[in-house]
Amino acid sequence: MKRRSVALLLMLCALLAGCSSGTTPAEEPPEQSILLGFSQLGWESAWRLANSESIKEAAERAGVSLMYENAEQKQDRQIKAIRSFIAYQVDVIAFSPIVETGWDNVLQEAKDAGIPVLTTDRMVETGDESLYAGFIGSDFYQEGVAAGEFLIEKAEREGLSDLNIVELSGTLDSTPMLQRAEGFRDAIAGQENLHLIDSMSGDFLRPKGKECMKALLEKHARIDVLYSHNDAMTLGAIAAMEEVGLVPGRDVIIITVDGEQAAIDLLKQGSINCVIECKPQIGDMVMELAKKLAAGEEIPRCTYSEERVFTEFDADLDSIPPRGY
Ligand code: AHR
Repeated sequence: MKRRSVALLLMLCALLAGCSSGTTPAEEPPEQSILLGFSQLGWESAWRLANSESIKEAAERAGVSLMYENAEQKQDRQIKAIRSFIAYQVDVIAFSPIVETGWDNVLQEAKDAGIPVLTTDRMVETGDESLYAGFIGSDFYQEGVAAGEFLIEKAEREGLSDLNIVELSGTLDSTPMLQRAEGFRDAIAGQENLHLIDSMSGDFLRPKGKECMKALLEKHARIDVLYSHNDAMTLGAIAAMEEVGLVPGRDVIIITVDGEQAAIDLLKQGSINCVIECKPQIGDMVMELAKKLAAGEEIPRCTYSEERVFTEFDADLDSIPPRGY
């Protein structure tokens, strides 16, 4: 930790010069705060707002000084923010990459400056794995698998055959989009009664979710299932279904990811059939890992949050605690 070494050096100089530092030799020097530069990707959903809050609150609790930048959904702004953290010589850089590719140059700059980098929530794809120290966030592939497994169970329990599925995917080239799509496809592979007939990107945004669902309903004579990569798009899609007189949850089976309070409420009302949890509250883990990195310690390459699946078949939906987002 650069700041801690500087503080210790100043204390030593003061003692040698016979000046009083105000501490007796028996007293421990106070723990120096680390400086963390954090680049958030935007504020596209309630999930994202909760994630930003979690980072800020956890930093305060952990005594971490936070330089926080929001890139408003633009990769070049994230790159600019990371460059400013490098110029400021922060102890650690953390960021939630909007897309997976295009980070190698700026990560190399951080490495050259000796600043460890942690990716949070989303991952990067790079030719050189040494350019970042690790990742903390959700297992998006497993979320996609859980969505597929729910649908298989639903079809089996209710004897449903030949289901036409549409997918609303998230931001193209982002980790949750890529992995939720892959996990779902792998889970339903070989199920002859399940047909994925279309997929559109709603960019994780509620208005785009509505727009895409409207287009899909116009394009396809029969849609039985919606698999949506996040709750924001799902809420938009539900509005589009209702506008054409469809009853969500009954006429169209709805599977959504995130677990916002609004989605859980609709699950309880029967308008959504399955909610896959994706936890935004990862702030405390981010701080723990950042402190380790600042102290020169190794961290695991991948740290996943524990997540649940809530479905219409659960007996205890009323016992789900308030979600906080
Ligand atoms: O990266 C996590 C995803 O990003 C969440 O599912 C979504 O709501 C957010 O926009």
